[in-house]
Amino acid sequence: MTDGFTLWFTGLSGAGKTTIAELVRPELERRGRLVEWLDGDEVREHLSKGLGFSKEDRDTNIDRIGWVASRLTRHGAAVIVSAISPYREARQNAREMIEANGTFVEVFVDASVDECARRDVKGLYEKAFKGEIKEFTGVSDPYEAPEQPELRIESEHEEPEESAQRILELLEQRGLIPAAVPA
Ligand code: ADX
Repeated sequence: MTDGFTLWFTGLSGAGKTTIAELVRPELERRGRLVEWLDGDEVREHLSKGLGFSKEDRDTNIDRIGWVASRLTRHGAAVIVSAISPYREARQNAREMIEANGTFVEVFVDASVDECARRDVKGLYEKAFKGEIKEFTGVSDPYEAPEQPELRIESEHEEPEESAQRILELLEQRGLIPAAVPA
């Protein structure tokens, strides 16, 4: 059976997790992998419906995502997770669940709060700065950056296509996907 793995994107809202995941996904499929993508915004409409943004609720959210990802990884899937996942300990727990079944690849999508607020794709930073949204990651709630991610992407200095390429190269090096085939 193919080796399952989970590609776990962590970073602030607006750092670029979803944008990069969108580019990586079709390329994994093109190389023959069965992909499942668990995106924070989507998970919160289903699996984690009703959860808020307290530390307890975020930990529960990440624990649920980690658990599902570990099950899928066990069956050889290529799982993509994109969630802020701000707490180191919760990410570590997810890593352990997943590593019991396959490979965990943590990708830190790093961008400053200033840059994310400048982009403000969803208009949430403006509200957070005005205090209209409480416990907003990076503004009024913590983000614990990974200390030793498998890959760190500085999305302020790198195009998403370049980041996606670096991720694919890392997966190739680890033998998790075959080398690129000509289109
Ligand atoms: S996590 O902290 O539990 O990992 P998750 O990735 O699922 O977060 O959800 C984050 C998304 O929820 C953000 O991209 C944003 O659209 C929305 N959101 C709403 N309120 C907040 C908040 N207080 N902090 C962060 N994100 C929020």
